[in-house]
Amino acid sequence: MSFILPRFTPYSRFHLLTNLTVILLLGASQLTAMDIEQKIDELVSKMTLEEKIGQTAMRGTSSRETGVSEELKQAVRNGEIGTFLNVMTPANVDALQRIAVEESRLGIPLIFARDVIHGFRTIFPIPLGIASTWNPEVAERGARISAEEAVNYGIRWTFAPMMDIARDPRWGRIAESFGEDPLLNSDMSVAMIKGFQTDDLSNPTAIAACAKHFVGYGAAEGGRDYNTALIPERELRDIYLKPFKASVDAGVATIMTAFNEIDGIPASGHKYLLKDVLRGKWGFDGFVVSDWASITEMIDHGYAADEKEAAYKSMRAGLNVEMMTEAYDNHLAELIEEGKIDEAWLDEMVKQVLRVKFRLGLFENPERLKGTESEILHPDHLAAAKEAAVQSVVMLKNDNYLLPLAKNKTVAVIGPLANAPHEQQGTWVFDSRKENSVTPITALREMLGEEQVNFAEGMSYSRSKSREGFSDAIEAAKNSDIVLFFGGEEAILSGEAHSRANLDLPGLQNELIDELANLGKPMVLVVQSGRPNTIHGILPKFDSVLYAFHLGTMAGPALADLLFGVESPSGRLPVSWPYAVGQIPVHYNHKNTGRPANDDDFVHMDDIPIHAWQSSLGNDSHYLDLGFRPAFPFGYGLTYSEFEYSDLELSSDTLKMGTSIRVSATIANDGDREATEVVQLYIRDLFGSATRPVRELKDYTRLTLEAGESQTVTFELHTDQLTFHNENMQEVTEPGDFHVWISPNAAEGLMGEFEVVE
Ligand code: NOJ
Repeated sequence: MSFILPRFTPYSRFHLLTNLTVILLLGASQLTAMDIEQKIDELVSKMTLEEKIGQTAMRGTSSRETGVSEELKQAVRNGEIGTFLNVMTPANVDALQRIAVEESRLGIPLIFARDVIHGFRTIFPIPLGIASTWNPEVAERGARISAEEAVNYGIRWTFAPMMDIARDPRWGRIAESFGEDPLLNSDMSVAMIKGFQTDDLSNPTAIAACAKHFVGYGAAEGGRDYNTALIPERELRDIYLKPFKASVDAGVATIMTAFNEIDGIPASGHKYLLKDVLRGKWGFDGFVVSDWASITEMIDHGYAADEKEAAYKSMRAGLNVEMMTEAYDNHLAELIEEGKIDEAWLDEMVKQVLRVKFRLGLFENPERLKGTESEILHPDHLAAAKEAAVQSVVMLKNDNYLLPLAKNKTVAVIGPLANAPHEQQGTWVFDSRKENSVTPITALREMLGEEQVNFAEGMSYSRSKSREGFSDAIEAAKNSDIVLFFGGEEAILSGEAHSRANLDLPGLQNELIDELANLGKPMVLVVQSGRPNTIHGILPKFDSVLYAFHLGTMAGPALADLLFGVESPSGRLPVSWPYAVGQIPVHYNHKNTGRPANDDDFVHMDDIPIHAWQSSLGNDSHYLDLGFRPAFPFGYGLTYSEFEYSDLELSSDTLKMGTSIRVSATIANDGDREATEVVQLYIRDLFGSATRPVRELKDYTRLTLEAGESQTVTFELHTDQLTFHNENMQEVTEPGDFHVWISPNAAEGLMGEFEVVE
């Protein structure tokens, strides 16, 4: 059997998960794009300067507050506020919207925003886990369900997806990213945007998405949050901007600027990127929001002397809405009066905000609250969250097929993440309740019965430095056939402003693991974390390792099913894994250098003769103590079966510009159970007018095969997928020689060759 995967319709197999047709009939907008433009023009012509400035203002409460002051209500009545953040009671949303629509002069509705990042009440795996599924359908479904839950609270705008390329696991926000690859990031971002927005933003359960953070935030130097991002222009265009371009093409409604500067210019004042690239080249016609205080923070950056200059520079760049600070509010009128900003420019910016409000159907139907939570935590939502969690777990090791476990074994359940309902939800959850989390211990007891599970967590939280629980944990291990250690990080150790310099499992986890390992029992490590942790030192203590990024509400049942073989692991790493922090960045799509590392020349520092002559050893790009390979490559992951790759074939060894070739291989499930393989297509452009990465992911597919089954997977590869920015910074595909691989990960695979010809 064989099937062909054309890259240009990656989502054609998606299905919408709601009863959208019904919703369309009930609530979708009747306005055409032309009607909307006409209405916007009419409206802006009636607006006072103050009302226009009002549309650039976002106010809110902190996410823990529930009240809204009389002062804010009056400001809405006066038309001084356009959008709100974190108003979290339906009654307050209703009250404010009613004032805006019924009591303000022009009745312009508000938009209510919230960080709905990986779930609202039903929590899905953190985005890094979603990326590990290599399954955009899972991302879309999670976003759809999140939107369906959030609209019950009046939320029609989420600050997601975050599509910052993240190559540095020290950076706490790697948790919120889709990892290091531009294609995987683009696919996951587009899928989430579709899930949030549907095909028609005016559907009552659609919420506007926000592509963030434009741009380069993930390249924070040293992985320290908010730090300067150093990105060469070609890399910015070929890697960092890619997911944003894909999102604009997919119709994302809004964009958020980043906190960082890029080569001396803070993103929130970056005229070239915001105006020339985003609006000019890409034709984005929604609106741009700053990040929290990122306009006034340009003063701290040293890019604006005061609030007024900051307002001027962001306005000049075309940043429409200011989140939380009031530089626009305080200075735009003055800047217009002084002739520094043309009012016609403000009009343009206001139109972009109003366009999104019209597209959301808010003018026609501002009363959005359904007043019911019946759909929240619906069994279908929980089933989808469990499925997402199952697909996101990556098996890193399974010596002698210890996993899957037989259900007649007695297990010791140990570790700080075995029963941590809050932590398993991960970062960026504001609206869920930990009581709804199903933890591993709960799920395992349910699956095996109380008597087969000896539970002693040993440590009550991941950073604990107390040995108090060690003896109970060791006792539990002694009384069991197998030790399951649930380690990792608490949710608070990743996310915004939570970077770490040391990536080992925190607290005394490694010490507890050492003591357990001394018992000589079979050991399984299950890590739940917000980032890749450096676990290389403890790997030899375990027979099997399941790496789960924080899995959300249904972590427990998903892990229990994987451990006991109800499901087979199918997640694959969305990042290259470091042995040690000193090796970062270690991303797979690096350049070759003039002295590429290789196994033949590598001499470990322990093997260097004493008093060796300075240049007697291979002078290649490697570390004396770690070599040059990651601990696990990008795309890596094991399952309970073995897949064999054979018979790589290319439909031609020349690829004419503007056309495609087919690249195929046979994938066979050689094991004795059904399992899923993520088949990956990589290329290398051998020579260019600018150097190219050693590998680039160009396509992938999840393939489920029965035991003994084999299939031919065929990818279609078009020259448009081979573009990069050449020496003159033009995006082109250059003729020349290429390598192509069909692979299980970025470090292996069957290789072929082709030539691109004019
Ligand atoms: C700051 C974060 O950087 C951004 O991602 C988030 O959406 C806003 N705060 C609003 O909470």
